[in-house]
Amino acid sequence: MCGIVGYVGWRSVQDVVVGGLRKLEYRGYDSAGIAALAGGQVCAVKSVGRLANLEARLAAQPLDGSVGIGHTRWATHGRPSDENAHPHLDCGGRFAIVHNGIVENYLTLRAELLQRGHVFQSETDTEVIAHLMEELYDGDLVSTTLNVVRRIRGAYALVVLHRDDPERLIAVRRSSPLVIGLGQGEQFIASDIPAILEYTRDVYVLDDGELAVVRRDGVECFTLSGEPVNKQPFHVTWDAVAAERGGYAHFMLKEIHEQPRAIRDTLTGRVADDHARVILPELNWSPEVAAGIRRIHIVACGTAWHAGLVGKAVLEQLVRIPVEVDIASEYRYRDVIAPEGTLVMVISQSGETADTLAALRAAKARGNRVLAITNVVGSSVAREADDVIVTWAGPEIAVASTKAYTTQLVALYLFATYLAQERGMLRGDEVRALLTALDSLPQAAEQVLDTAPQIQQFARRYAGVHDTFFIGRGLDYPLALEGALKLKEISYIHAEAYAAGELKHGTLALVTDGVPVIALVTQTHLYDKTLSNIKEVKARGAYVLGLTFVGDEQLAESVDEVIYLPRTLPLVAPAVAVIPLQLLAYYAAVERGNDVDKPRNLAKSVTVE
Ligand code: M6R
Repeated sequence: MCGIVGYVGWRSVQDVVVGGLRKLEYRGYDSAGIAALAGGQVCAVKSVGRLANLEARLAAQPLDGSVGIGHTRWATHGRPSDENAHPHLDCGGRFAIVHNGIVENYLTLRAELLQRGHVFQSETDTEVIAHLMEELYDGDLVSTTLNVVRRIRGAYALVVLHRDDPERLIAVRRSSPLVIGLGQGEQFIASDIPAILEYTRDVYVLDDGELAVVRRDGVECFTLSGEPVNKQPFHVTWDAVAAERGGYAHFMLKEIHEQPRAIRDTLTGRVADDHARVILPELNWSPEVAAGIRRIHIVACGTAWHAGLVGKAVLEQLVRIPVEVDIASEYRYRDVIAPEGTLVMVISQSGETADTLAALRAAKARGNRVLAITNVVGSSVAREADDVIVTWAGPEIAVASTKAYTTQLVALYLFATYLAQERGMLRGDEVRALLTALDSLPQAAEQVLDTAPQIQQFARRYAGVHDTFFIGRGLDYPLALEGALKLKEISYIHAEAYAAGELKHGTLALVTDGVPVIALVTQTHLYDKTLSNIKEVKARGAYVLGLTFVGDEQLAESVDEVIYLPRTLPLVAPAVAVIPLQLLAYYAAVERGNDVDKPRNLAKSVTVE
């Protein structure tokens, strides 16, 4: 996710801001920029690529002054480029803005501002904020900022610098994190604590819907309706490395906990307020394109392939067209039958996986339309596909994929609903039920995270085992595959996933006394069938941990332990039910003393065949 640093004080703003941005590099970025007040002007320097590129420009064109803002960008709207890098300025060059998040209604605002004569320099959603500040400026920076944020929808952290108000910066938070570092005669703003830890350990953590007026000699906080807020400083005791992980012991745990936010961001702007429609402006498909799709091939690797397996079931159920799912390293060498009307979908967190990219290129060479679901806007997959749906998970640092997977599922649900809606396959009430369920996923994900202590206890008891099985039917089967992969990948415990009904065709021979079996029971229409399979493994002595919805009293009678999930539609359950499985893998790996974020033999991005 984007990194933000702001400074008001007496030191060189360039040093503080660039130094702070460097501490945020772990978050990932594709471009960077800084704006400072110097000689009564707003001066901005930006560069695509690494911070070193920005530093090279600053060496040639140093920025004086001790008030300014900086940003590392993780592209969402518009490719990585100098122009799209933040800070963004208004037409008069009086306001500079850095922003983390998404302005949902930016297209409407942009059209309005263009009509009013504003000239845009970038393709970003953020630039509308700079022009809105200019448009609505009433002589007071605080009231203007409040009026601007009332006009923008979405999730954001925002910092505003104004030429004519050189003694203060304004910081606003809605959903995206922002902290204010408290100093003597100087104050700091940052999207994350490591950026300012060198200077202060006392911070205000802005809550959602708060605005801070940041001056050299102090900070005042307000609600977005202008009421003063009395905030208590938080004293940071973490060391610099722990601070990068937001206080979590590992990036993987941090990323597991980021899932409610990541799911929310991936939904943002894509579901109509009344839940009546999916809006995917990035596709811009004519009715003919949507109607012309006769079959879909989904191609991906690892966790992304598991997401594809869920996508197949969802697309087939909602759109009623045949969907094949392939592992990219197989697909690229197989004699694929993909006649006209085949949509090839590639799913890749990094957008750089060699096999997935090769499959994409082969599909394009055959003349197939390619739709990519990826987490990295400027990636090779994003650049080469015909259409792209971006998951807004933010950079994923741990090798084990967690938030990328759940947001891939969300993107697949959105696309399947969109395609069904465009082809007239769903009634209004069906669309509403689905979109209401999708909209409640972030909250459900929050609730599921509360199961962590129970899972940790289970992991403590079972971390010493050699084998384990994950079983499920229907959508619980790809979920089982993902649970088993997570466990293998970081705990190094052998884990096998089985379609529960398939066990008796061979694998049941391996189920003996005390073997842990994780039984996934979220697919209501298959409940009784899965229960019978659970009884089969119980009869062979397995220790069964069941996963079901809250309110299911029956499962507890047939298993040894139950983890309860908040109720949701079975179709969207994998996005929530995977979280306890991620936690199980995490705690088992910790218990075994493994390097959780960098498991042996594995790399985050597999760019070789
Ligand atoms: O970047 P991609 O999504 O293309 O990566 C695909 C796989 O390498 C990846 O999902 C891998 O399986 C994960 N590390 C599993 O946690």
